[in-house]
Amino acid sequence: MTVLWSTDPAAAETYHYAIGGQVHAADGAHAVWRALTTTPGEPLVVAGPEIDLLAVCELAERLRVELPEAGVLLLRRRLDISVLAQALRAGIREVVVADDLSALSVACGRSLEVSRRMVSSTAGPQSRQGTIVTVFAAKGGCGKTTIATNLSAYLASLGQRVLIVDLDLAFGDVAISLQLDPEHSAADLIAMSGHLDQAGIASVVTRHASGLEAICAPSSPADADRVPATTTSELLQVARRSYDYVIVDTPPAFTEHTLAAFDVSDIAIMLATPDIPAVKNLRLALNTLDLLGHPQESRVVVLNRADAKVGLHVPDVVKAIRAPVATSLPSSPAVPASVNRGVALVLDEPKHEFSTALRALAERHVVTRTPVPPLDAPAAIDQQPLPRRRDLRQRRRKVLR
Ligand SMILES: Nc1ncnc2c1ncn2[C@@H]1O[C@H](COP(=O)(O)OP(=O)(O)OP(=O)(O)O)[C@@H](O)[C@H]1O
Ligand SMILES: [Mg+2]
Repeated sequence: MTVLWSTDPAAAETYHYAIGGQVHAADGAHAVWRALTTTPGEPLVVAGPEIDLLAVCELAERLRVELPEAGVLLLRRRLDISVLAQALRAGIREVVVADDLSALSVACGRSLEVSRRMVSSTAGPQSRQGTIVTVFAAKGGCGKTTIATNLSAYLASLGQRVLIVDLDLAFGDVAISLQLDPEHSAADLIAMSGHLDQAGIASVVTRHASGLEAICAPSSPADADRVPATTTSELLQVARRSYDYVIVDTPPAFTEHTLAAFDVSDIAIMLATPDIPAVKNLRLALNTLDLLGHPQESRVVVLNRADAKVGLHVPDVVKAIRAPVATSLPSSPAVPASVNRGVALVLDEPKHEFSTALRALAERHVVTRTPVPPLDAPAAIDQQPLPRRRDLRQRRRKVLR
């Protein structure tokens, strides 16, 4: 992914051939960062001659820590020794005179080659791409927190590095469900927005005895509104570089934060309980995600509190939601009892039928990512081509308003 950072509308035309390949245009540091962190390929930034030197140096310094394989090339109208020294100190790979297009072409090739070598030789945490799993239900009380905490605790017990993020910022109960006593919360991330790094995340997490780490919701609901949705995206993107799994617990609504999480998630666990209101809301949620261009293949529909005696049966639910149900988790009084004790049932009573079903869900759909077989005869609505996945929050503004 090569990003041309410029505010000049003619820049793409001027530099396109010299840079070569597919060039993504961005007019600000934030847009550059987002393009680099969300698109695969050897990362390269070419900063136009009009871009402020300090801004480019700041980005280069951040990349040096968080995405060291990324190359930054700086274009300047003329070469100046003090600019050169400052650029090299910040980790900018080369400074090129803006109208020397052949020098730019050579510098781009050189940087891409360095990045390629770095990517292929890095096996450490910097190259880690942890799996982000968002647990969502459109109706409250379906078991999001129960499943997110048990899934996280189970993955951590396998020796994986796991971060659970409580995005139910106003009323989150991850901390209470795991008997955590957080000193910090998601509200402490606000001050780090735009330059959040792994050390910043480490300073905010609360550790659980199982090895699991958590970013808890603020203790005061009033603080929830202060956390920008962009901070959520940044948190998840940075976290996946140092954790094997990032599990996101959500509120029962498509908030800006939830959509930001869906945007970067590899797996979306979509929950319902087998009763008509929850199933209706699940169908509406799936429809909304379809409209927003969210990929169907990343969804894992789970029926929680399945009880053959009182609930709807799986075929009824499949018919109602027009999507496959991946698995069911049984209803049991042991679940609320474990929440009241502040323990994860999957660790506390590993032989319990809920724990067995939860482990199967984790192994099949999260660890090995076995695809959920599609329905045999999908309804016409499901056969329509889906719009390309992009920023769900922006799409929502168009679709839902
Ligand atoms: N499989 C289950 N069997 C019995 N009770 C369950 C089960 N799963 C969850 N519960 C109980 O249902 C209640 C709601 O669960 P939980 O808090 O996990 O839901 P939630 O979707 O996170 O709710 P909210 O929308 O309020 O955040 C809790 O008391 C929990 O113990
Ligand atoms: Mg909850």
